[in-house]
Amino acid sequence: MSYESYELLTPDNLSDYLKSQPHLHGSVDPLRLSVREVGDGNLNLVFICESPGMPGLCIKQSLPYVRMVGPEWPLSPERACAEARSYQVASEAAPTLVPRYFGFDARRYALALENLSGWTVLRSLLNSGVPAPGAESDAGAYSARMVFATSFMGLPSEALRRQVCSSANAELCAITEQLVLTEPFVDHPRNSFFPGLARAVEDLRRDRHYIANVQRLKHRFLTASEALVHGDLHTGSIMVRQSGDRQVGGGQGGAGTAGDRSGGGGEGDGGGPSRRDARVSPTQLPDGEGSLWAAKVFDPEFCFYGPAALDVGMLMGNLALAAGRAAVCDLGTQRSGDMLAWLLVAVERVWVSFEAELRALWPARTDTSFGDDFLEAWLLRASEDACGYAGCEIVRRIVGLAKVSDLETLDEGARVRAQSALLSAARRTTPSRLAEGGVTDEPAGVVRAFAELLRSELRQVG
Ligand SMILES: Nc1ncnc2c1ncn2[C@@H]1O[C@H](COP(=O)(O)OP(=O)(O)OP(=O)(O)O)[C@@H](O)[C@H]1O
Ligand SMILES: [Mg+2]
Repeated sequence: MSYESYELLTPDNLSDYLKSQPHLHGSVDPLRLSVREVGDGNLNLVFICESPGMPGLCIKQSLPYVRMVGPEWPLSPERACAEARSYQVASEAAPTLVPRYFGFDARRYALALENLSGWTVLRSLLNSGVPAPGAESDAGAYSARMVFATSFMGLPSEALRRQVCSSANAELCAITEQLVLTEPFVDHPRNSFFPGLARAVEDLRRDRHYIANVQRLKHRFLTASEALVHGDLHTGSIMVRQSGDRQVGGGQGGAGTAGDRSGGGGEGDGGGPSRRDARVSPTQLPDGEGSLWAAKVFDPEFCFYGPAALDVGMLMGNLALAAGRAAVCDLGTQRSGDMLAWLLVAVERVWVSFEAELRALWPARTDTSFGDDFLEAWLLRASEDACGYAGCEIVRRIVGLAKVSDLETLDEGARVRAQSALLSAARRTTPSRLAEGGVTDEPAGVVRAFAELLRSELRQVG
């Protein structure tokens, strides 16, 4: 895709840039500005801009090339338009569950977002052995609200078709298709893993039943344009902060109805997602313990119209990877046990929150010729997709190019033990294998079966 060349932002030119953006002057004063570059990413520049006594801003600009290589590896900055599109929807559908969105400068491919400097990236928190009860439910609720607002549930069919057409993000989808859904399952030069895993990887690739399910999921990734999904929802795309005013075990309370789609929490209240009435819960889960955490989902540059359960599945997979770490990490017996127990509950709770939020929104669907039985069948299939994508995410983070610090920071022996158990769990994420492990004629039962098989695999590696 061609684009006009544009000036890149630097700490030195940001003051002048912000002077030209008067709608941002409630957050920063360009004449009293301090700037920190915080992005360590390869594709974008991320700056925190602050002025004394003001909330500050995060400015994110897409680079027109891959930074690690330089201008000789060009990449269209159009993904910033995709990120803006997702934030535009989220600021209506789930305003308290994303950073506040102050707009997009299409000439400079730059987004202006709430400054979340006081928040922590969830993956860092989990790696330090601290659970974040509440955050997983917020993430599930975020995904449900986005699915409702952008799918056949919340949009009239003509608007839906137009959105599907205008939301292609082909360059980034191609990355996911290759790195997540193709390369890890074949012999490919970008893959890498310790020799101790070679047998497990070989077995997985020869497992025709499992590979057939991966291909089903890849086919759905390519062809199912159900909803505008985040596309890269992992624990590094979620910021969390402790929030004392929340009820334990509640999740994103009281899923909104369509009339309540503005999110109800008061945008920019600075207190994280609001609590309302008790949430509908299809399963009884143990309550979270200790302080509660609020979550905000960020970095939706991979967003596209895809399978509705892709996001919850990817997040479940990343929580499973964190559980693999917890199973082999020595934080002291009690703390390690608590961490692992919470992560296994969190895997399930992401789904429970997603399902509960969608059920609560369902009465406000645009086309009521879709009845309740349709929702049941849709949720059941979505729960199978979620577990399947969780499995793909586990495999690709162990075998494929993009690894995760949860496992990479472990020594070789512990890492191989955790990874073997996780690969074994991933192989069991097909609908029929999940059915061997529990009640799978209801969606929450499918996800519970996944959490149970993770528990049984990880129990043996500590
Ligand atoms: N709104 C924000 N407020 C404060 N810090 C932020 C904000 N958004 C992002 N950051 C920080 O900047 C980092 C990079 O942000 P982001 O993930 O959006 O960039 P990216 O270039 O897409 O990164 P990646 O290559 O990992 O996808 C985050 O991990 C976080 O530490
Ligand atoms: Mg990114």
